[in-house]
Amino acid sequence: MIWSRVTTRPPDPVAVHWRVGRAPDLTDVVAEGEVVAAAEHDFTVKVDVRGLEPSTTYHYGFETGGLPSPVGRTRTAPAGPTAGIRLGIVSCASWPDGFFNAYGHLAERDVDLVVHLGDYVYEDGKAGRKIGRAHHPPKRVSSLDDYRARHAQYRTDPDLQRLHRQHPMVAVWDDHDVANDAWRDGAVDHDPDEDGEWHQRRAAAMRAYLEWLPVRLPDPAHPERIYRTVHLGDLAELIVLDTRLAGRDRPAQSGKRPVATVLVRDRSLLGDEQRAWLRDQLRTPAQWRLLGNQVMMAPLRVIDLPRPLERFVPGLVAGGVGVNSAQWDGYPEEREALFEHLREQGPGNAVVLTGDLHSSWAAELTLDPRDPAEVPVGVEFVTPSVTSRSFADGLAPPVPGGRALLRRLIAHQNPHQRFIDLEGHGYVVVDVSPDRVQADWWHVETIARRTGRAKVVASWMVRAGETLLSPAPAPLPARPDR
Ligand SMILES: [Fe+2]
Repeated sequence: MIWSRVTTRPPDPVAVHWRVGRAPDLTDVVAEGEVVAAAEHDFTVKVDVRGLEPSTTYHYGFETGGLPSPVGRTRTAPAGPTAGIRLGIVSCASWPDGFFNAYGHLAERDVDLVVHLGDYVYEDGKAGRKIGRAHHPPKRVSSLDDYRARHAQYRTDPDLQRLHRQHPMVAVWDDHDVANDAWRDGAVDHDPDEDGEWHQRRAAAMRAYLEWLPVRLPDPAHPERIYRTVHLGDLAELIVLDTRLAGRDRPAQSGKRPVATVLVRDRSLLGDEQRAWLRDQLRTPAQWRLLGNQVMMAPLRVIDLPRPLERFVPGLVAGGVGVNSAQWDGYPEEREALFEHLREQGPGNAVVLTGDLHSSWAAELTLDPRDPAEVPVGVEFVTPSVTSRSFADGLAPPVPGGRALLRRLIAHQNPHQRFIDLEGHGYVVVDVSPDRVQADWWHVETIARRTGRAKVVASWMVRAGETLLSPAPAPLPARPDR
């Protein structure tokens, strides 16, 4: 999918010429054509270019009224026998929270594809005073014009522009692409008096998202359905899920205040349609299944905190062991069913890729981490936020040593979480080969100013046929053939 937008006050509608070539100067055109840009789609254009070679790097450009666009680079998916593929995983870029250094750094990495797991934009009206990055428009957005203006603001960021110019992207939305803590029929941060009718707001946000992101809809007649599978040759299926808007029932605890229990079993995170579809996807044989998903799938137990500290853990359930009921932990029946399907497929080819949690984790997927007899069904890699407020910023008690204490408590309660970092911002690079999948966590030096420095803070891997993680011997090397 190639994407652009006409920004030069064009007539409405206006013809846009596109070209794809192998050379950066587009002298050797292999495909070209014309599309129409119009106010109806906010003058965005998307082309699903056909007839290209697999596993090939191309360059592309657009032109209208004699004015050329910047030239972008992209790469087609592999087909047939495939020895390797490398993905960059990102989520949660809040404009007022920081500079998108992670995007800029990832733009320079040697990856075939970027997978964006949601919160590409945030809907709030934060002023970002500390770093001088205020949201535009300066309010919580709710109309189609609002969401379009918000996307337009994000796309002025030079690091995000570079990321899109360098790599293709497979994107799915999460809650903030519409509204904080959203489910199918509402959101915690939705007030009908201020924001209008929920389904209208949701449709407006989805429409702007689909205009501004190069998403290939599996069924254009159902633009609200973006869960889909991307085939990566005979090596992997990238199955991207929508755990937020397609079918999610309201979480057991969805307000600001903790409630007594989340032991409500009959809730759905995927909805009937997506669940049936996923089951079908899992029946197709594949060397690796990469499940792109928004919320953490592995259990996450947070020890009960002393009462005075409880107010620092909104969203966690008080009393006994706390869990976040907006994650898979709040939808236990559906998780059990999914693990059962994964188990039926035979051991060791499921790798879940997760965003949402604004922190870095590597987990073995078990239902009960305290049961040593339970064999995990796969592994999960959670990418940190690009900028959004970290897990530690949100939950650690603001006392000296509070962050280390929170991390220790969580690690102690969750032995299946093999790697935990609650503070860093950045992205994950996932390298898939027939015999193993390795993930490197890259954390940026800062988000308080624009800088390109970042480093690998952890490398974990899972071998084919296994479901236990081991530390990788070294971070991924650059690939000589690229
Ligand atoms: Fe987020």
